[in-house]
Amino acid sequence: MSDQTKVFGKERPLSVLAVFGTRPEAIKMAPLVRELRRREGIDCRVCVTAQHRELLDLVNAHFGLVPDDDLNIMQQRQSLCGVAARILTGLEEVLRRRPADLVLVHGDTATTAAAAMASFYCQTAVGHVEAGLRTGDRRAPFPEEGNRLMAAQLCDLHFAPTAKNAAALAAEGVTRNVFVTGNTVIDALDYTVRPDHTFEDEALPPLLEAYRRIVVVTAHRRENWGAPLRSICEAVRELADRYPDTAFIYPVHPNPTVRQTAEEVLSGLPNVALLAPLSTGDMHNLLARCHFCLTDSGGLQEEAPALGRPVLVLRRETERPEAIEAGTARLVGVDREDIVREAARLLDDAAAYEAMAQAVNPYGDGHACRRIADAIEYVYGLRDIPPEPFGGSRS
Ligand code: UD1
Ligand code: UDP
Repeated sequence: MSDQTKVFGKERPLSVLAVFGTRPEAIKMAPLVRELRRREGIDCRVCVTAQHRELLDLVNAHFGLVPDDDLNIMQQRQSLCGVAARILTGLEEVLRRRPADLVLVHGDTATTAAAAMASFYCQTAVGHVEAGLRTGDRRAPFPEEGNRLMAAQLCDLHFAPTAKNAAALAAEGVTRNVFVTGNTVIDALDYTVRPDHTFEDEALPPLLEAYRRIVVVTAHRRENWGAPLRSICEAVRELADRYPDTAFIYPVHPNPTVRQTAEEVLSGLPNVALLAPLSTGDMHNLLARCHFCLTDSGGLQEEAPALGRPVLVLRRETERPEAIEAGTARLVGVDREDIVREAARLLDDAAAYEAMAQAVNPYGDGHACRRIADAIEYVYGLRDIPPEPFGGSRS
C-alpha cells in the first residue's frame, strides 16, 4: 500500500476504483459509491465486470450509476474459470490505463476474488467490503467461502459488517486495517424502501390486491442446482395448493439451469407467480409488504430481518448466523417436508409468526457507507480519527 498518504487531498485526490459485477454486489456497492463521490478528497470511479449483465444493469439504473469502465464479460452458462480469466485480463488493462490508489471489491463472488487478484498483481491496494463472513467450510457454500478466504488474504483493508465477522478475520490472523462498519445493504434499503412506492412490474399490484398474504420466494444458489432446487419448488407447489389465499411470488434468476427447474415444477399454478427478476426498488418494497420469505439468497437474509419479515433459509449452513440468533431467520434446509412444515407454521400459527416477525437489524444501522468512507480517509491520512465501530442493532 502507498506510504505517500500525505499527498492525498492536498496535491491530488485519492483515486478509488470500485469493482463489482453481480446483482448483490451492485446493490451493496451503489450506496458506497454515492457516499465516496460526496467526499472532496476522493475521486471514485466504477468498473463493472458485468459478470451479470441484465441483473447488474437493473441495479445501476435504479441507483443512477453509470460505470466508467465495463468489462462486459458475461456469457451464457459461463464457467468460474472463464469468468475469472476474463476479469483478470480486463481489470489489468483498466488499471494500466488509469492506475488507482485503492480498488474496492465486495462480497464473495468470482468477481470479488478475481478483481482482488488482478489488483494484487498490479500492485494496487485493495479494500474488501463485507469481509469476514464465514461458514468455516472452504467448500460450502461453493465457491463463495473460498472466494472470501482468497479476498481476505489479498486485501489490505477489511470492512467487516459485524463484530463476529471481524473476529473471524482475527482468527485467521487478519487484524490490520479491519473496521466494523455494518452492512451497506441496510443503507441501500434506506434509499429504496418507500411507503408510496409505485411498482414497475405490472404483475405485482394485482397480486398484492387479490391475495391475503404474500410469500416471496427466491432460490438460485449453485449448491441448490438440481435435486435441492426441485425439492424447494415442490415444497412451494404443495404450499400453494394448501393455501389458496396466499400468493407465492418467485422472481426467477435468469440462470437457465434455475429457470428450467422453476418452470417445470411451478408453471401454471393460479397463486404462484414466476416473474422476471424484479428491479431493486420493486424487490425491496415487495419484501417490505410480504408475510415472510423463503430464500437461499445471502442479501435477502439481511434485508428481510431489517424489514421485520421472517426468513426461512433454504440452505444447510449460513455465513449469516446473526439473524438466526436474533430469532427472525430459521435455517430449514432444502428437504420438501421441512420447508412445508416450517412455512405452514408461519401461515397457521399467529403466535409463532409474531415471535419471528420482529424488526431486528444485527447487520447494520444505515451508516455503513459513512463508516467505510471515514475508514478509507483515515487510512490514507485524510482524517485523524477512525470511525466508531458499528456495535449494535437498529430496529
Ligand atoms: C453469482 C455468484 C453468486 C451470487 C449470485 C447472485 C459466483 C461464482 N457466483 O452466481 O455467489 O450469489 O451471482 O445472483 O460469482 N445470467 C444471465 N443474465 C444475468 C445474470 C446471469 O443470463 O444478468 C445467466 C447466464 O447464463 C450466466 C448464468 O446466469 O452464465 C450464471 O451467472 P453467474 O454469475 O456465473 O452465476 P450466478 O449463479 O448468478
Ligand atoms: N433482488 C432483486 N430482484 C430480484 C431478486 C433479488 O433486486 O428479483 C435483490 C435482493 O433484494 C437482494 C439481492 O438482489 O438485495 C440478492 O441477490 P441474489 O439473491 O442474486 O444474490 P445473493 O445475495 O444470494 O448473493
